[in-house]
Order: sequence, then structure tokens, then C-alpha cells
Amino acid sequence: MEIDYKLLMDRAKAASQNSYSPFSRFAVGAAVLTSDGEIYEGCNIENSSFGMTICAERCAIFKAVSDGKRELLAVAIYSPNADSCYPCGACRQVMYEFQGDEEISVITENIGQLEINKLSYFLPCGFKI
Ligand code: THU
Repeated sequence: MEIDYKLLMDRAKAASQNSYSPFSRFAVGAAVLTSDGEIYEGCNIENSSFGMTICAERCAIFKAVSDGKRELLAVAIYSPNADSCYPCGACRQVMYEFQGDEEISVITENIGQLEINKLSYFLPCGFKI
């Protein structure tokens, strides 16, 4: 499938506006593309009990999975509070769980420039049972 990287990044940017991040003041948005062409958005959601915080990427992925989707093609990540925002280690492993035959593309923005990498760039030798 032809992936519209810019559209996905635009959706991640829109999602970052819903970020609930009063503690870190670091807003993050994510958008995931599933193998059937659907896009799901997510944002980071913090909590007074800090450990309960969920990242934007996992928020978006879990929305897709809870909707019955099992295969991701791409994940875009954006923060308005940083020149670039790369996925944390936990989110990399969660992406890996829902990778199908085709490697997941990870879209980030580096000082305004789209940067596209495969998940294996961020997580070589991911774990799967
Ligand atoms: N955060 C994400 O949403 N995604 C990441 O990949 C890294 C971190 C959030 C979690 C927390 O709300 C804030 O960024 C600061 O760590």
C-alpha cells in the first residue's frame, strides 16, 4: 500500500492538541495506519500517579487493536515541544507485537523535515513469542 507519510504526520500533529500532559508539559501525538487503510490517532495521557501515564503511540495502537486491527503499516509521532520526537523503548516493543509481514514505517519530524525509518532501525531483534 502507498503510504501518505505527510497525511499521517498531519494526523499526529492534530492528535497532539488533545494531549493531557499537565505534569511534563510535553505534548505528544501519534497516528497509526493499519493494514486495511484505517488511521487511528492517540495522544499522551498523564496522571497524578505518574506511572499511570500512557504514551501517545500506545494510546493510538491500543485504540486500533481494541477495534479489531492486528497489523500496523506505519506510525507517525509528533511533539510540538521538541525539534524531534522518537518513540520510547516500551512503544517500540508494542509496535513490534503488531508488525505483519511488512516492516512498520516510523515517521518522525526532525526540525520540520519528515524522517522515515523502519521499526528495525529503532528496535533491532525485537521480542515475540
Ligand atoms: N511520551 C510519549 O507520549 N511518547 C513517547 O514515545 C515518549 C514519551 C510522553 C509520556 C509523557 O507524558 C511525556 O511524553 C514525557 O515523558
